[in-house]
Parts: sequence; C-alpha cells; structure tokens
Amino acid sequence: MKFNISNCELVSFFLTLVLCFFISTSSNEFLDCLSQTISSDDIVFTPNDTSYSPLLQSTIQNLRFNTTTTPKPLAIITPLSYSHVQSTVICGVKSRLNIRTRSGGHDYEGLSYTSFDQDPFIVLDLNQLRSVSIDSQAKTAWVESGATLGELSYYVSQKSNLLGFPTGECTSVGVGGQLTGGGYGTMARKYGLSADNVIDALVGRCEGANPG
Ligand SMILES: *[C@@H]1O[C@H](CO)[C@@H](O)[C@H](O)[C@H]1NC(C)=O
Ligand SMILES: *[C@@H]1O[C@H](CO)[C@@H](O)[C@H](O)[C@H]1NC(C)=O
Repeated sequence: MKFNISNCELVSFFLTLVLCFFISTSSNEFLDCLSQTISSDDIVFTPNDTSYSPLLQSTIQNLRFNTTTTPKPLAIITPLSYSHVQSTVICGVKSRLNIRTRSGGHDYEGLSYTSFDQDPFIVLDLNQLRSVSIDSQAKTAWVESGATLGELSYYVSQKSNLLGFPTGECTSVGVGGQLTGGGYGTMARKYGLSADNVIDALVGRCEGANPG
C-alpha cells in the first residue's frame, strides 16, 4: 500500500478529565487525604517546597500570570501513575478544592495553572505522564496527556518516514489540551482537527474510582 506523509489515522490518548468543582477548604485536609494513598512525597509540592515555584513557573508562557499576585495553587501534584491521578481527584473533591489540570501548560490564558474565581485550587500536573507508544503497522498510537505535540511528532518521525499526525503548530502544547480543545493545525484542511483523529480514549473518572 502506498501512503503519503500525512496518511496517519492515529492516536488514542490517556486523558484525565477532571469534572469536579466544589468550594473552599483547607490544604491540610487534602494533604492528609493524599498521604493515605500516595506514599511518595516527591510528587506533592506545596509552597513551602523549594521546587514549588520553579515547577509552577516551568510552563508559564504569558508573563502576565508570573507575578506575586497571580493566584497560586495550594499544591501541585505530579502523578507517576493513573492511580495517583485518581487519588488526587478523589482527595481534591473530598476537600472541596478546585482542580486545574495541566498537560503541556502552553495556554496563554493560564487556565491550567491559575484561577481567578477566588476559590482555592490545586494543579494536577501531568508532566510525568507523557509516554508515546506507536504501532506503525496499525497506524495508531497511545499517547499520554502530558506529552507535548513536539514529542508526539518526533516519536512518529522516529518510527516512520511516511506517517504523521495532524497536531497543532506549537510544539509545547500538551496532547491533552490539544485534543480536548479540538486541535487546529497545518494538516487540518486535508485531515481535520486533531480530535477528529482520536479513535479511543481512557478517561479517568471521579465516581467509583478506587483510590489505591
Ligand atoms: C509551611 O510552613 C509553615 C511555616 O513553617 C507551616 O506553618 C505550614 O504548616 C507549612 N505548610 C505545609 C503544607 O507544610
Ligand atoms: C517568572 O518569575 C520568576 C521570578 O519570580 C523568574 O525567576 C522567572 O524567570 C519568570 N519566568 C519567566 C518565563 O520569565
């Protein structure tokens, strides 16, 4: 069979949709809850940690949101596994915290790392969940939310000179944000949006998830 460079149907992805919004609580309640299921300290960052600010600032593209008065999360969680994601969501909901989910953190509106509605919030940062696994025979790939579009394109190019995926134009955009936002890019005229090329998704849920 003959394909051209844009002949890739591709991409399913792991997406963490966080659909739970509640109001006000303390960060201690959240951290206590989290410590019951997550033993590793090095994925939980509070403002007392020296890594907190560099981590928070690591993806800020719009410097308007890099000020001392920009509302900051009570904690940033960087899950290493899907169960860490579930625990973070469950504890966030129990503690009535808003949850901001950051994949690539490219957004110029700051939606993935700040909040202007006065309610306390945490950032669920998926920067450690960024694997890209490509099946070039099947012309599909599983991609985790935290991978960037640049990484996705790079790994596809390592597997094949012929396949490609209709991503966006900015390499720092996270796959999670691109696909949930639709995803307009240079291949859109022929292949549609990134979201048009999603054939499967594993979506984390709040209800019924087992924190463990
Ligand atoms: C941060 O440090 C302050 C002052 O040392 C302390 O009162 C507070 O409990 C600490 N917060 C966390 C989340 O560890
Ligand atoms: C954000 O502000 C901090 C100082 O508060 C600075 O060190 C950092 O370089 C700034 N980030 C960018 C992208 O300019």
